[in-house]
Amino acid sequence: MSYEVHTVSRWKTIKNIFQFLDNPIPLINETIKEVGHPSYRVHLGGINRSLMTQDPQVIQHVLQKNHKNYHKSKIQTEGLAKYAGYGLITTDGDYWLRQRRLIQPGFHKKKLQSIVALMNDEILKHIAHLKQTVGTAGTTVDITREMVNLTLKVVSRSLFSVSITEDQLEILSYAVMTSQVAVIKDIRQPMFKWWRKLTGEQKVYDESVRKGREVLLDIIETRKASVEKHDDLLDMLLASRYEDTGEAMNSTQVLDEILIIFAAGHETTANALTWTLYLLDQHPDILLRLQQEVRDTEIPDQPGYEDIARLAYGKQVISESMRVYPPAWITDRIALQDDEVNGIKIYKGEIIGIYIYGAHHSEDLWDNPAVVDPERFTPERQKDIPAFAYFPFGGGPRLCIGQQFAWTEMQLALYHLIKHFDFQLAAGQEVELEPLITLRPKHGMDMTITARDQ
Ligand code: HEM
Repeated sequence: MSYEVHTVSRWKTIKNIFQFLDNPIPLINETIKEVGHPSYRVHLGGINRSLMTQDPQVIQHVLQKNHKNYHKSKIQTEGLAKYAGYGLITTDGDYWLRQRRLIQPGFHKKKLQSIVALMNDEILKHIAHLKQTVGTAGTTVDITREMVNLTLKVVSRSLFSVSITEDQLEILSYAVMTSQVAVIKDIRQPMFKWWRKLTGEQKVYDESVRKGREVLLDIIETRKASVEKHDDLLDMLLASRYEDTGEAMNSTQVLDEILIIFAAGHETTANALTWTLYLLDQHPDILLRLQQEVRDTEIPDQPGYEDIARLAYGKQVISESMRVYPPAWITDRIALQDDEVNGIKIYKGEIIGIYIYGAHHSEDLWDNPAVVDPERFTPERQKDIPAFAYFPFGGGPRLCIGQQFAWTEMQLALYHLIKHFDFQLAAGQEVELEPLITLRPKHGMDMTITARDQ
C-alpha cells in the first residue's frame, strides 16, 4: 500500500520563493516540522514534481539499494557541466561507470600514500607563511579565505606536484570560483539569464572558464610530452587504461576530470576546516582535549597513515563538525521510472532532494542534535548511528571518491593549525549559513590568529 506525502501548495511555494532563494535551510526545516514527516513534495517552477527528504531509508534506497533507477538531475549534469565539463560529478550511466572504474584505483588508500607527504609538505609551507603573516601578537584574518588558499594549494600539489605556476593556479582557481557563482545564479535566478547576457556578466564567467581550461590543457600536454615521473594524480590519470580497450583517456577527458577533482576537492574541505575552527572556538572544553592530543602526538615530516590514525580525537571533532555543518548540505537525483520506497510513491521524472543537513540534525535520528558532541563518533558509539543518518560524503556507488584524500588532508591540517596557532572568533563576527553548492559561512569568518611562540 503506497501513500502520498504532504505536498506544499503552489501558492505557498510561490510565496516562499524569495526566502528559498536567500537561504533554503530554515524553510525546509520548518516545512518538515510542519508536515510532521521527514519527506514532503513541492512543485518546482510550478510544474516539476519534487520530493525533499531527510528520511535515511528513502535516501539509502535512492543512493544505494535502487540506485540504477536514479540519475543526477539536470542541475548537475547540465547546469554544472556547462562550466565544469563532463567529469565524474556531472555524468551518469555507462559513461560515468567507465570513468569511475578507471579513476577509482588512483584514489585507493595505498596509491594515495605517496601523496600524503606532498600534502603534509604543502600544509607546513602554508603554516610557515601564515606564521609570518600573523605573528605572535595576533592578527585578524578571514579564516574562510585562508582555508580555501590552503586546500587549493594541497589539491593542486597533489594533482600536479610542481607542474603549475602561481599565475596558472590563480587563473584556475578564479575559473572555479566564478563558475560556482554562475551555476548558483543559473539555478536560483534562471529568470535573469537574459540580463546576465545583456550586461556582459555571462561573458566574464565563460571567459574565465575558457582561460582555466586553457591553463589545464597546457599543463596536460606538457606533462604528456615529458618523460619525468611525478607520482601525482595527473600521472595517475594519464597512466590509467580502460579495462575493455586498453586505451588511455584523451586530453579533453583528462582535463574535464581534473577540473572536477580540483573544484570538488578544495572548497568542501576548506569549509569543513573553517567550521571546525569555529566549533572549537565555541567549545573550549573540546579544544583543550584536542590540544592535548596534538601535544602528545608527533607527526614526522614524511607521515604515513599510521601516524594520522593516532589523531583519533581530531577525527571525532571533524566528524561532529561535518554533522553540524555538512559541507555538501544537499544533493539530488531524478527518478527514471516510477518507484516506491517505504510506502511512498515516487514518480518518473521526479527530482529527489537528498537533504543531508536535515538527516544530520534530525531529532528522530540523533539524541540532542543541537548539542555539539564529538563523543558521538567514538568507535564504540559510531556503530550505533543508523545507515544514512550521517553521510557527509554521500553513499552508494557514487560515494565521494576523494573521501580518503579529504580525511588525510583535514586531519593533517587541523593537527598543524592547532599545534602552531591559537584562534579566536573576532568580536562582532556574525555567523550565518550560506548554503550555495557547499555550505559556507555567509559573512566569512574573521578570527584573530596568534602564532604560538615556538
Ligand atoms: C570534506 C570534504 C568533502 C566532502 C564533504 C565531499 C562530499 C561529497 C559528496 C556528498 C559527494 C556525492 C555527491 C552525490 O552523490 O550527489 C561527493 C562526490 C565526489 N567528490 Fe567529494 N567531498 C569532499 C572532498 C572531496 C575531495 C578532496 C575530492 C577530490 C580530491 C572529491 C571529489 C569528488 C568527486 C570526483 C565526486 C564524484 C564521485 C562520483 O560521482 O563518482 N571530494 N563528494
